[in-house]
Amino acid sequence: MAEAEPDFYSDSEVVAHPKPYFDMMRAKCPVAREPHQNTMMVTGYEAALEILTSKDGTYSSLTSVVGPKPPLPFTPEGDDITELVEAHRTEFPWSGHLVCFDGETHARARALLGSLLTYKRLKANEDYLNGLADKLIDGFIDAGTCNVVPDYAHATTAYAISDILGIPEEHRAELLEVIGPVPSQLEGDADYKIGPDPLIFLKERFDEYIRDRQENPCGDLLSDLANARFKDGSTPEPDLLSHLARFTYGAGQDTTSRLMAMAILILAEDAELQARLRTNPDQIANFIEEVLRFDAPVKCAYRLALKTTEVADVEVPAGTILNISLMAASSDPEHFDHAGEFDMDRQGNRDHMGFSKGSHACLGAPLGRLEARVVIERILARTSDIRISEEHHGPAGDRTFRFEPTYSFRSLADLHIEFDPA
Ligand code: HEM
Repeated sequence: MAEAEPDFYSDSEVVAHPKPYFDMMRAKCPVAREPHQNTMMVTGYEAALEILTSKDGTYSSLTSVVGPKPPLPFTPEGDDITELVEAHRTEFPWSGHLVCFDGETHARARALLGSLLTYKRLKANEDYLNGLADKLIDGFIDAGTCNVVPDYAHATTAYAISDILGIPEEHRAELLEVIGPVPSQLEGDADYKIGPDPLIFLKERFDEYIRDRQENPCGDLLSDLANARFKDGSTPEPDLLSHLARFTYGAGQDTTSRLMAMAILILAEDAELQARLRTNPDQIANFIEEVLRFDAPVKCAYRLALKTTEVADVEVPAGTILNISLMAASSDPEHFDHAGEFDMDRQGNRDHMGFSKGSHACLGAPLGRLEARVVIERILARTSDIRISEEHHGPAGDRTFRFEPTYSFRSLADLHIEFDPA
């Protein structure tokens, strides 16, 4: 019965344990409507891939971040709502940010930002990251315990993205405070989070960075962005540049820190795996890929059907919000052998949906991978045995982990570990 089905968008049990929910939906059909928000859950790998890589204007990314909440600002009518959506575009949350752009506007802005995240910059960031990770470990190594989320993972990602952008050192700690904890989606977001620009609180600061770097470029990524041109030589509006900068700053933090925390949780539960990676640090990259498949930071991305269409033989009327369940697709047994098992030796280990696919696939994936690798490398090198703190999470076989109350992300609220220094 429909009423017995948990509500993906408000049930805290689903937040804590999303996989049984996704398995239940996939068993019904890889594309199936849920009764609470009337979204279509896309839990099959092939169906998700088809939608994410569609290029003919059938789908919009306008709902990419928040999905059905708040509801559409209009009532969809007919088999093609493209014009209606354009008329209301600026009313959608996040609409000023790259991840919600469509078509040519998206391609131009993405090319602009993508050209700046170069190998050279990542390489320079790697050196910084190694020093940063060690400095953070120095802060807790003697205690033999730490809370991974604030003490290690979040601090690393916040400082790393600040470094790569070129945010002045004296602003970094303050910005870390301003960005604050992950907001609750389950109890309703704060007003600014459902307005057109949830990163509005960073606007003044980032507008100023762009203005300043246009006048005084200094070789950092913000300078390159401030002075970038579209491929046809035309000049982007400063407002777009400021949006791109603050989205990069925001997108580059919580996602990666969630990946690190989940990776450390999996390691702390598996002494053999730790030993293997300590002996073979070159295998850490494969380990990270499997974490991205097995339990990734972004549970779902959303698309809005602009035209009535069909996916996996299921009719999708125009105006439908599709929940592309990246986590479900990454554990689809039709696509992955022994999908429910953690196996870092699997073939084709970048086939997961952890960074999404298609034209909006994560632009920061190389940076996210690099940061996670360095953080895992350093903590393994500096410790000889990492364990989950029973005091905080209970005994083996009966652990409790708290997750942030969000339906879009998979976000450990804290992770207390104990370890022996190396
Ligand atoms: C492990 C860490 C990360 C994960 C799991 C992740 C995940 C994702 C996902 C799933 C999307 C696609 C959303 C969609 O299809 O609608 C995305 C987009 C994006 N991510 Fe990441 N991300 C990570 C790290 C980063 C970092 C470090 C940066 C910054 C350098 C970044 C910048 C972006 C940008 C700019 C987009 C928008 C791309 C577009 O719309 O064309 N991400 N990310």
